[in-house]
Amino acid sequence: MSDARATEVMCARASRRLKVLVGCERSGKVRDAFIRRGHDAMSCDQLPSDSDGPHYQGDVFDVVDYPWDLAIIHPPCTNTSVSGAKHFAAKWRDGRQACGVAFALRLWKSLAHVPHVALEHPVSILSTLWRKPDQIIQPWMFGHGEVKATCLWLRGLPKLTPTNVVDGRTPRVHWLPPSPERTRLRSETYAGIANAMAEQWALSQRELLG
Ligand SMILES: C[S@@+](CC[C@H](N)C(=O)[O-])C[C@H]1O[C@@H](n2cnc3c(N)ncnc32)[C@H](O)[C@@H]1O
Repeated sequence: MSDARATEVMCARASRRLKVLVGCERSGKVRDAFIRRGHDAMSCDQLPSDSDGPHYQGDVFDVVDYPWDLAIIHPPCTNTSVSGAKHFAAKWRDGRQACGVAFALRLWKSLAHVPHVALEHPVSILSTLWRKPDQIIQPWMFGHGEVKATCLWLRGLPKLTPTNVVDGRTPRVHWLPPSPERTRLRSETYAGIANAMAEQWALSQRELLG
């Protein structure tokens, strides 16, 4: 461990405030769940944040090299998700699929210096081209009566434990017509999942650091 990293770990031990990057997040849901628990979380997205809080508007690769304790990343899934499988041939031909996969894998590799990393993605071709996810969660396991299989690839983090298993199995934004707003709502992290990440992964960080 370098001196700089050792100093960072000592500071984290002393203050118990974790430096958390939430990459490719505009909603602020995960960022704010960590901030409410006393951590120094920052979101980053090409778009402005939907809610007030620490946010870097720009390319996530501008900030990956910061000495984060924990990174949670939500790479774009438009060209990788199996929900768009009928367009896979066209997306392969013009390179969109390769770009989507390469972006996610480059981001994961760019965080090699971060001790605890989670990559979140829907069911996608990452599972076959990279590796199977470590966990697949559903919103109904975290207090939302909806279905949306969400894959988690984890490094240095435990699987999430369901916090509130509820009835109800409707697809997310089922009744909304197609629109940019629908796309945004479809990709927004559920509050129950964001809270579980902050509760369970900050605790495991504390155990690991302290
Ligand atoms: C699947 S959505 C994730 C949304 C997230 N779950 C939330 O609650 O806001 C992917 C996000 O990645 C952002 N994005 C795409 N390329 C990016 C880049 N190079 N740097 C930062 N953000 C990027 C998009 O603007 C989009 O908001």
